[in-house]
Amino acid sequence: MDIKRIINQMTLEEKAGICSGGDFWSTKGIERLGLPKMMFSDGPYGLHKNSSDSNLESYIHAVCFPAACTTAASFDRDLIYKVGEALGNECQSENVGVILGPAANIKRSPLCGRNFEYYSEDPYLASELAASQIKGIQSKNVGACIKHFWANNQEHRRMTSSSDMDERTAREIYLAAFEGAVKLGKPWTVMCSYNRINGVYSAENKKYLTDVLRKEWGFDGFVVSDWGAVNDRVSDLKAGLELEMPTSFGMNDQKIVEAVKTGELDEAVLDKAVERIINIVYRFIENRDCNAIFDREADHELARKAASESIVLLKNENILPLSKKDTAAFIGYFAKWPRYQGGGSSRINSYKMESAIDMAKDIDLIYAQGYEVHDDIIRQDLIDEAVEAAKRAKVAVVFAGLPDAFESEGFDRTHIRLPQCQNALIKAVTNANPNTVIVLHNGSPVEMPWINDVNAVLEVYLGGQAIGGATIQVLYGEVNPSGRLAETFPLRVQDNPSYLYYLGEGDCVEYREGVFVGYRYYDKKEMGVLFPFGYGLSYTAFSYSNLKLDKTKMKDLDTLTVMVDVTNIGKCAGKEVVQLYVAPKCGQAIRPVRELKGFEKIFLEPNETKTVTFTLSKRAFAYYDMNIQDWYVESGEYEIQINKSSRKIILSASVHITGTVHKKIIYTRDSTIGDILHHPNGSSILKPILDKYSLTGYGEEDNLLGDGTKVMMEALIKNMPLRGLISFSDGSITFKNIEKVLKELNSI
Ligand code: GLC
Repeated sequence: MDIKRIINQMTLEEKAGICSGGDFWSTKGIERLGLPKMMFSDGPYGLHKNSSDSNLESYIHAVCFPAACTTAASFDRDLIYKVGEALGNECQSENVGVILGPAANIKRSPLCGRNFEYYSEDPYLASELAASQIKGIQSKNVGACIKHFWANNQEHRRMTSSSDMDERTAREIYLAAFEGAVKLGKPWTVMCSYNRINGVYSAENKKYLTDVLRKEWGFDGFVVSDWGAVNDRVSDLKAGLELEMPTSFGMNDQKIVEAVKTGELDEAVLDKAVERIINIVYRFIENRDCNAIFDREADHELARKAASESIVLLKNENILPLSKKDTAAFIGYFAKWPRYQGGGSSRINSYKMESAIDMAKDIDLIYAQGYEVHDDIIRQDLIDEAVEAAKRAKVAVVFAGLPDAFESEGFDRTHIRLPQCQNALIKAVTNANPNTVIVLHNGSPVEMPWINDVNAVLEVYLGGQAIGGATIQVLYGEVNPSGRLAETFPLRVQDNPSYLYYLGEGDCVEYREGVFVGYRYYDKKEMGVLFPFGYGLSYTAFSYSNLKLDKTKMKDLDTLTVMVDVTNIGKCAGKEVVQLYVAPKCGQAIRPVRELKGFEKIFLEPNETKTVTFTLSKRAFAYYDMNIQDWYVESGEYEIQINKSSRKIILSASVHITGTVHKKIIYTRDSTIGDILHHPNGSSILKPILDKYSLTGYGEEDNLLGDGTKVMMEALIKNMPLRGLISFSDGSITFKNIEKVLKELNSI
């Protein structure tokens, strides 16, 4: 389609009109030019397509896949790609051009009400999985819309608050979650977030919408606002926000017209925005698959598979898998009515839902409701009934978790406890039956005060409409659990690094913890956690061997190949998530102890061995250096760690890296002796004047007090600014000497 010809035929008013929605869910069409409109639909884990008003029942019956909190635990790019494919196909069948997902925001705090919709506390994992979903969706010629770009990490005051952080934190954590996804997945669209970043609304933040997103990362689609996120329409357009959704009923369109007429807005900017929008509309229209069929049953089966591959086995003291021969007490409202999705714009009008009870027809079951789900009140009658059920059964399975009222889009949690009525129930059941299993339905970490009293814990998160079947498959061993936590479960929410400043003061939200988010913090501080990032058990066991690096010395521009053998040494087949972390053992920068830089999920039959290979390049070793405003690899040793979680190292090997980026440091009179000695020629340049300033006055022989005076003096010298030598010499060191040293240092 000759886009430019269409644009040339448009009036100014029509062009301005294209930059906002035609209705709540669609772009505008222009009938006289044959330009069709294109529909959006939420996402991110099902087709939340509206047929008329905002009542959930007015949304089409669709398939609710597991939420991102669940599928992230799969650590499985292919699985998430397949879910993306199914979503793309559903969109084609319903004539939806762009699905509003994935949501890749970092889980800064377990309190965020919308964590269920996000992948991880780790940007590498989040970006890889978001890229997989984007590629899956777009394989069906439907656009993905990665959101909410960026730093939308709380619901509190989300439309006005400012996420304030330094550029290193931004680059290494919050932008990084989007960078990989945009570069790898190449989404057709990006949704800007509601919030401000360092005081500037995302919707009008040229630095990130244009300079970073487009010029650095190569994004070539269009940016759409979150619904109602537009602040100043003309500024937004200049910054790189092409499409306002849903609409401002022509008011902002008129502002664009006036701005062009007064010269405030260059019409070429408007034309470019229109071109970017229409490009995507035609990319969808010209690749329409009118034969696509929304096979709900097939997608339901996929939803069950996605859930069963994501469930995380957190504890198992020789009780799972269960036997169908044993009587089981299924206790808890969620056994019959599982909480399988989050609240808000992502809510899916599921065409059906299967509970664990529904899927356990071949098991001798006793059911007891156990607790109220709409009010957190302890119902002793329900507990007593549950205790009786538990006493009569071989095993008690309590289906617990967070009710809708505890977490949702729109508000954040104030604590991470389960409802008190559920904790009371669990305590009573464990007293009644020593064989107790807990199944958790929650979108974000919870405290588990009963963890030492139960035999097993399955984290099923918000596992989609087929979570009941998936849970039964794992409980009874039809599926060997292979999920790993994509976020740390802290012992207490107070331990979380953002705790002191979370939600901020007014609209000022300071990310004072910097890059120390999630395991980057807990591992640096060697803090106890309930369950670490990357943790998860299996019904089988795996051993690791033959860790090999293809080089032990390299430059930062080289690539490193890492290979490791993994063997299934258990009795049943299973999947292992092989996790690779890089741990810098050198440098001046303050960095996390280790960071995830690779993961692969593999299937192994008993006694089978596979070799897993990783390829690492510069970014796996770099940090973002504020002085040079770029990624920088410090020369020195780096440890490659193959781990079973962020803190359980199985094998490791070292590589020495020589950085090729020379940080031009300008030395001044305030440069310390220690810094100067780091200069390649620092020692030789300093020698003449340091010789004049002999330490012999404080040598061992003078160390009369035996109190380490020499050590102290060396430390004092190291931290002394160059100019300080004058004050602490016998006058033999002059300012002229100082200037000569600086001239030599800065000339190299
Ligand atoms: C919202 C959400 C966004 C969603 C949009 C449309 O407020 O933040 O994720 O896609 O509205 O429903």
